[in-house]
Amino acid sequence: MKKTHDCGILKAANIGETVCLSGWIQGRRDHGGIIFVDLRDRTGIVQVVFDCERNKEIFHLAEALRSEYVLSVSGEVKPRDPETVNPKIPTGEVEVFVREFTILNPSKTPPIYVEDDIDVDENLRLRYRYLDLRRPEMQKKLFMRHKIIKKIRDYLDDQGFWEVETPVLTRSTPEGARDYLVPSRIRAGSFYALPQSPQLFKQLLMVAGTEKYFQIARCFRDEDLRADRQPEFTQLDMELSFVETDDILSLIESLVQYIYHEALGIELTIPFPRMPYREAMERYGSDKPDLRFSLEIKEVSDLVSDCQFKVFTGALKKGGVVRGINAKGAAFSRKDVDDLTEFCIQLGAKGLAWFMVGTEGLKSPLLKFFTEERLEQLSSQMEAEAGDVLFFVADAQEKAEDILGHLRNHLAGKMNLVKEEENRFLWVVDFPLLSYDPEEKRYVANHHPFTSPRDEDINLLNTEPLKARAKAYDLVLNGLEVGGGSIRIHRRELQEKMFELLGFTTEEAYEQFGFLLQAFEYGTPPHGGIALGLDRLIMLMLGASSIREVIPFPKTASGSCLLTDAPAPVAENQLDELFIRLQLPEDEEEI
Ligand code: AMO
Ligand code: AMP
Repeated sequence: MKKTHDCGILKAANIGETVCLSGWIQGRRDHGGIIFVDLRDRTGIVQVVFDCERNKEIFHLAEALRSEYVLSVSGEVKPRDPETVNPKIPTGEVEVFVREFTILNPSKTPPIYVEDDIDVDENLRLRYRYLDLRRPEMQKKLFMRHKIIKKIRDYLDDQGFWEVETPVLTRSTPEGARDYLVPSRIRAGSFYALPQSPQLFKQLLMVAGTEKYFQIARCFRDEDLRADRQPEFTQLDMELSFVETDDILSLIESLVQYIYHEALGIELTIPFPRMPYREAMERYGSDKPDLRFSLEIKEVSDLVSDCQFKVFTGALKKGGVVRGINAKGAAFSRKDVDDLTEFCIQLGAKGLAWFMVGTEGLKSPLLKFFTEERLEQLSSQMEAEAGDVLFFVADAQEKAEDILGHLRNHLAGKMNLVKEEENRFLWVVDFPLLSYDPEEKRYVANHHPFTSPRDEDINLLNTEPLKARAKAYDLVLNGLEVGGGSIRIHRRELQEKMFELLGFTTEEAYEQFGFLLQAFEYGTPPHGGIALGLDRLIMLMLGASSIREVIPFPKTASGSCLLTDAPAPVAENQLDELFIRLQLPEDEEEI
């Protein structure tokens, strides 16, 4: 019995047709003399009917049917009685009267319900992912992921991009997250590394004359996991020759606009706004600000520099800042304010100063430290109105920015300010090229060592390297980093200068990146690229709560696959073949 129709598409127009359907049993209802079965395939559900009066034999056989049995039925599409029409499902006007059926396979009672909005532990869902994926909402996510990626391929093909695969077994290079290593059997003691991204290969492809490259690339990073991080994840990876920043940003804007239109029917306005990194940190305390709510951070250092509150003046004397956020109309209680203080302390703040704005003026234990005039100026700077609560953090600049950035997001949640339906894209640009690692006592590349400084900042590399800005850009959506890239260094002298700053000697640089540096000696076009975190982008496009929801077979926060139980020990002889002897820690603490 071959499938003639999908379950979910049958409509009044099919009435009278004889159809053959195959799928899983969603549920069975026995109404005495008549059995209704909801038959489900990936397109939806249709009701099939086993009627004792019409066909006794079949009716009795149908009594054995249970949830999740795989069934093939053939029969006639009939209209439902008006009072039994189900407007909640697309096939609700019809039902199929079964003439013949085959149980293609029975099923054990499933450990989770195969239906939407189930309230089960995520670990159980991951353990039985194949059942979890049968649920309509998960099927939809699989389908939408397919569709979005298909649209990306169509768009880029149209724009003249070539999809090129790069190796998964490659070599470990420094400067990044921790690598996943794969031991070589043939070259004992040597290891491949799984790629953290195709970065080096895509630059080699530019030397190879590919000009416009993309890849739906799997990347592997052994880092601490969070809701938006997986040890293996997928990038839309791209690299282009003969381009500058603007070319890449506008290409991505058009691409994103296209896939939102094609896959979701949502019209995005482009270009997306651009904001220098410094401004993002000052106004939002984050390099990935969520623009769906305002709660902007305000500088008040000047206004409090002559107050009597030692916490503020002390921080300023040490070169720090005092900045605040106005929780507009929040009308918080003392308990709320204490909770928020605790929230900031958990983040490393020394405390949280607050002023409640009433109709009669400000209320705060700190009033006594300020003159009337200063309080008025402070109120005006913070645009204070009755019902607002003003919060201030005094600390070193970076720390104050970080704490206020987190407080801002936290307040938005607490105050219900996030407009969930909005898609606020933003480019953050002009990142600092380098930062200083006090532990390693050296500069480290913020993006990667091949990122070009801005032309006007090249001289700063000799004088104040930390002030040099990079030709780097991040794409931010609703407070998440969904992409990042840069224009690369393509001239040898500048690349060597960069390695020198990063503390590599030329020999060391050659040892690590020799193959790339050598390639650069054979005519390298100016080039740049970007990678979008596809899992994150798709998660946000589909309104999912974690990237695990849009990855068919994700790993848990501790990096394990509950379905296969990976990672798992291997047989002694497998280790012997690889010349590996284990030296395991005595206790968990050492890991
Ligand atoms: P970057 O490291 O910024 O850039 O990665 C690009 C994007 O990938 C996503 N991403 C992740 N998604 C899920 N889980 C993870 N562990 C994870 N790590 C990163 C983010 C991020 O913006 N080669 C460069 C790109 C370039 O310069 O062209 C790169 O990999 O959304
Ligand atoms: P203290 O003098 O430490 O009791 O603090 C008085 C008030 O100032 C309390 O509400 C603290 O939470 C707050 N506070 C302490 N340190 C800071 C700081 N660095 N920034 C902002 N507020 C602070």
